Amino acid sequence: MQAAVGEMQLQVMSLRREADDVLSLRLADPCGARLPAFTPGAHIALRLGEGLVRQYSLCNGPDEDGTYLIAVKREARSRGGSAAVHRLAQGDVVAATLPVNAFAVDWSAPHLVLLAGGIGITPLLSMALHAMQRGHSFELHYFARSSAHAAFHDLLADAPMAPHVVFHFAIEPEAVSSVLKDLLSSRRAGAHLYVCGPVPFMDEARKIAAGCTNLSAVHWEYFTPPAPAEEARASSAVCTVRLARSGKTLEVPANKSILQVLIENGVTIDSSCMEGLCGLCATRVLEGEPDHRDEVLTDNDRQYGKLMTVCVSRAREGVLVLDL
Ligand code: FES
Repeated sequence: MQAAVGEMQLQVMSLRREADDVLSLRLADPCGARLPAFTPGAHIALRLGEGLVRQYSLCNGPDEDGTYLIAVKREARSRGGSAAVHRLAQGDVVAATLPVNAFAVDWSAPHLVLLAGGIGITPLLSMALHAMQRGHSFELHYFARSSAHAAFHDLLADAPMAPHVVFHFAIEPEAVSSVLKDLLSSRRAGAHLYVCGPVPFMDEARKIAAGCTNLSAVHWEYFTPPAPAEEARASSAVCTVRLARSGKTLEVPANKSILQVLIENGVTIDSSCMEGLCGLCATRVLEGEPDHRDEVLTDNDRQYGKLMTVCVSRAREGVLVLDL
């Protein structure tokens, strides 16, 4: 995980309908400056007004013109984020965080298996475009209801991308598991799997991949929290945090996150998703044992970086001393 610092303004340069209910937006610096570089798998968070902050993967390939491309599906059960993006018009300016990459590609893998469910195509499109430019071995499997529901269908179905792409349209939900089993168990030895899509799709793919000895690593990115995180939050207990720099000790009640309590006590800390997904609130732990409940930190971040996401994670027991 990389920490992001600072924010920027982005102007909507163009909008394009990519599939049923999916809109892509080309975003640029309002003054024409080149936007900060990023690596495939990165996302930005847009501030959409009235406290709405939402993360969107960058879909760009390499060698683009210093702009960002995102694609957003209008969700019927949206909490407002996707509808707000679909209301944006050419010329509108929105605040955004700098790119963060919690889903980076390990280019040491001999082969990449990119597995997209629906709008989960967005980070994987960027990975596929970069892999193609590097001449890296990869394949992209795209599960969608139909070609009309598949964002970027024309780009993916045409040369030079087409030979790397397999579309899986209109697979009945009960058949997805066996298709994934056949697909993942027969991939090249040593391959790394990257999966992004709806939570049930990702959970199933991860479960199957865990039993595939031919895959040497599985990488994933959630944009909505999976069920266990919700359950974990429901079982939160009171905990105590001590801030090493100020010497303050704060009690965190069961119905509040550490982040909420920090903000209430005047501590400035980057945050966005509030769901353990974006990594912006990652904070170093100097003492104590966190109960990690996020979906963004790697084992390395937790074990060696001593990081925890204070928006969802809590203390396993005792007091947590934070580097704040
Ligand atoms: S605010 Fe996104 S992980 Fe904490």
